[in-house]
Parts: sequence; C-alpha cells; structure tokens
Amino acid sequence: MKIGETRKEYKTRKIIINSDCPILTFKNWYKKAEKKVSEPNAFNLATSSGKYVSSRMMLLKDYGETFIFFTNFHSRKGVELFNNSKSSMNFWWKEIQQQIRIDGVVKKIQKEESKAYFYSRPKSSQIGAFLSNQSRKINSYEELIKEYKLLIKKYKNDIVPYPKNWGGYELTPYRIEFWQGGSYRLHQRVEFIKARTKWQMKKLAP
Ligand SMILES: Cc1cc2nc3c(=O)[nH]c(=O)nc-3n(C[C@H](O)[C@H](O)[C@H](O)COP(=O)(O)O)c2cc1C
Repeated sequence: MKIGETRKEYKTRKIIINSDCPILTFKNWYKKAEKKVSEPNAFNLATSSGKYVSSRMMLLKDYGETFIFFTNFHSRKGVELFNNSKSSMNFWWKEIQQQIRIDGVVKKIQKEESKAYFYSRPKSSQIGAFLSNQSRKINSYEELIKEYKLLIKKYKNDIVPYPKNWGGYELTPYRIEFWQGGSYRLHQRVEFIKARTKWQMKKLAP
C-alpha cells in the first residue's frame, strides 16, 4: 500500500481541561496515559542553535511546574541548548490519540539533583552514561561494548565516577497545547500561553 493511501480514523472523545492550569491538565492526561500507553514518558525534543533545527526522542523523568529530562551536556542537543535555551517537547500518545506540545526555556538542574538521579539508576546505566561521549564519532560498536564490559568489571565493587558532562535539564513552559484526535479530521486543540504569571487558554482550529 502506498503511504499516501494509509488512513487512520480518529474518534472524537470528551476531553477534560482545567482552564486555569495546563500543568494540572497535563497531570490528569498523563495519569490516564499511564494506563493505556506503553511509554507515556517518551517525547520528542526539538532544539535549534540558529541556522539548523534538530529533534530526537527522550524520556521524561519528572514534572511539576517544570519538565525534567537527563542527557549528555556535550551531545548535539546539549550544545544546541547551550546556544539557545528555547526548546520544544512533543508527546504523542497513539493509543489514546493525544498529542501534547510544550514550548519553553531550558536550564540545567542543580548538580546535586543530577548526581542523586545518576546514582539511583542501575549500575549498568551509570556505566553507559560514563562511557558514552554521546553524539561523538566512534571507531566501532564492538569496541564500545568491549570497553563497557571492562568497566562493568572495573566498577563491580566500586562507585562509578559521576560524569561531569551528564545531568538533568528542566524546561519551564511558556506554551502548552493539548490535542485530541477527532472524527472527520476535526481534532480538538486547546492552547495555553503564559502571560506574566497567568495562563491564558484558547481553542484552536484543527
Ligand atoms: C524512546 C527513546 C528515549 C530516549 N531517551 C533518551 C534520554 O532520556 N536521554 C538521552 O540522552 N537520549 C535518549 N534517547 C536517545 C536520543 O534519541 C538521541 O539518540 C541521543 O540523545 C543523541 O541525541 P543528539 O545527538 O541529538 O544529542 C532516547 C531514544 C529513544 C528512541
């Protein structure tokens, strides 16, 4: 079948929006997604340092007034966020036909918080983060695995050093949009924009 002929119908559902607070709305939507979606914390992160734009999938690790994720500060996204702290997150929950777009400003979380999260992860993940110069050229994948196995042995009974170039970012949102797939391609969209300290809500055409 040609890709252009692929059609997936969406079905209009009642959506629940807290008109004062997109954070609360996110929380409610997320709780429902947790029951139906296999990896609800997976999102796409778009960054741009000016001339070019890039995006990649990430995992949300916490949220409240801000949205937290972890990565390598020297990766492509790390470099782009250093040059331009504005960035955009996009969650797509296929099973319930919902999309949430969050635009905001990103900054690093406190080093102590990053460290606490780093050491809460399984040792295998700690070593992965310690070893990987994310987004840099490597000679071979086999070599990487070899190094990984050596490090697993080396730190079997020792603490893995905390990699200085790894940690968390938090995105403070200034725009959040909730999207619910609907019948006849008439999807429901609700946009919140932060005006000073207050969120202002409006509905948007699909
Ligand atoms: C579902 C999924 C979740 C991911 N989560 C993360 C993450 O939380 N942190 C991270 O650094 N990379 C994560 N990755 C890998 C990134 O997509 C990406 O390959 C990596 O961060 C390098 O991106 P960059 O070169 O643009 O910086 C994830 C990939 C997938 C497919």
